[in-house]
Amino acid sequence: MADWTGGYVADLGYTFGYYPDLNPLRSQLLLLHARQAMPKLSTACELGFGQGVSVNVHAAASTTRWYGTDFHPSQAGYAQQLASSYADGAQLYDQSFAEFCARDDLPDFDFIALHGIWSWISNENRAIIVDFVRRKLKVGGVLYISYNTLPGWTPMVPVRNLLVQHAEIMTPSGAGVASKVENAVAFARKLWATNPAYARAHPALGDKLKTIAAQDPHYVAHEYFNRDWMPMSFAEMADWLDDAKLDFATYGSAIENITETQLTPEQIALLNELPDTTFRQTVRDFMVNQQFRRDYWIKGPRELTPLDCMELMRAQRVVLCMQHDEVSLTLDSPVGKSALNPSIYRPLLELLADFRPRTLGEIEQELARPDIKLGQIHQATTVLLHKGALGLAQDHETIFRCRPRTDSLNRLLLEQARSRAEVTCLASPVLGGGFLISQLNQLLLLARNSGLREPHEWAAYVDQLLKSQGQCVLKDGVALNDPVAMLQYLNELADVFNRRQLPLLLALGIA
Ligand SMILES: C[S@@+](CC[C@H](N)C(=O)[O-])C[C@H]1O[C@@H](n2cnc3c(N)ncnc32)[C@H](O)[C@@H]1O
Repeated sequence: MADWTGGYVADLGYTFGYYPDLNPLRSQLLLLHARQAMPKLSTACELGFGQGVSVNVHAAASTTRWYGTDFHPSQAGYAQQLASSYADGAQLYDQSFAEFCARDDLPDFDFIALHGIWSWISNENRAIIVDFVRRKLKVGGVLYISYNTLPGWTPMVPVRNLLVQHAEIMTPSGAGVASKVENAVAFARKLWATNPAYARAHPALGDKLKTIAAQDPHYVAHEYFNRDWMPMSFAEMADWLDDAKLDFATYGSAIENITETQLTPEQIALLNELPDTTFRQTVRDFMVNQQFRRDYWIKGPRELTPLDCMELMRAQRVVLCMQHDEVSLTLDSPVGKSALNPSIYRPLLELLADFRPRTLGEIEQELARPDIKLGQIHQATTVLLHKGALGLAQDHETIFRCRPRTDSLNRLLLEQARSRAEVTCLASPVLGGGFLISQLNQLLLLARNSGLREPHEWAAYVDQLLKSQGQCVLKDGVALNDPVAMLQYLNELADVFNRRQLPLLLALGIA
């Protein structure tokens, strides 16, 4: 292993995921659940951006100036390639946290984000990051941070140690990380097949191992095989962030802001007896067996008055990101499956079905239903945000300003989609962020962008492109090796794309 890694698994590059949680726009809606406001955004920073898909999409699709670092040179190289494809690209570096945080040419930030970093670095790096947040996050600024949480991770700690020990002892050092990972997971499953007492004491772990075996080895290597790996309780995290003068604001996971979907009435009553925020969060994490927290913290929280809160709620702009008839009116949550109230959700979805962005204030007026209160609209939009059915939308002027940049970035991503399936999102100037779209739909869009007009022409374009690389498509997980069947299936996909997805892509400023 190269020595710039400080024990981090760098032999396998990270995945190319897009994380909408890192879009500061959505935090505006979520912070209002805690009566907190997002500052006006001009600068933001992502520490450990991986392949840099999220940071670039957010930089291209908004007017915020983004900065970031990730010490993996191949990943930073890819991220920089994306950043150079659109004007005023994100400023991205391949520096370690120690080097980047010591720079004297960085601005102060309104928003700092770290996703999938904190649990996998040393205490020394944690101290560097906290010091950076203390110095560089503006007063009123927001930190988004995610981490593996206790008590939920407790049973996995010895399993993770078993995997790492196996990799160290049983696989020759020259074998490469991918085979170390594969062999260690296979061994753990073999151990589980002997029905050990530990497996009987923690019955959920068998399924967990099955899931790990099916996951992308790049992800598994980064998640479990680092030298540093430390799940942490909320109280310990609060202790660390106290040095940066931060207070817990609210949950980055949209649905966790709707307490009734997470806890039973008895649990809510018990929590309400607890005056201390940190202790309340500790107890709540036991109630939900929290494994992974994604939270917003604020430097200097100031509670909004009810009037401020209502005004800010009314100003939130939202847009539907799914055909309204595809949104299921059920919700799976820790307290069970529940039905969403059709007398609120149906009219709301029908109103938004034209994909026109509206403020919650406009929705309130257009619904013209005095029985549906602003708070219920806020709650319903939060639930739809969680379901991926809705996104926050920027104002017209910002959309107009960002469109040339998202077009440029999307051109590059679509070019890459011709031979790579890793990036499954495109940038939307409406959302100020990314929109998930499969590789095949990206290729159909590329065909349309190339001037072809009819869905059957798009299908033929994709058919030829894939066949020229010796590739076929999968239908329900089965490879279509018959060329006629493949073209026929692509025609079906192109038809659905044209009727169902294209209107949405047009509305989101992607097509
Ligand atoms: C688990 S990945 C998460 C990447 C990204 N945030 C995401 O969620 O897709 C952790 C990232 O942190 C980077 N990293 C780890 N230690 C670092 C350090 N000391 N300095 C800079 N980057 C580091 C790794 O290269 C890796 O890309």
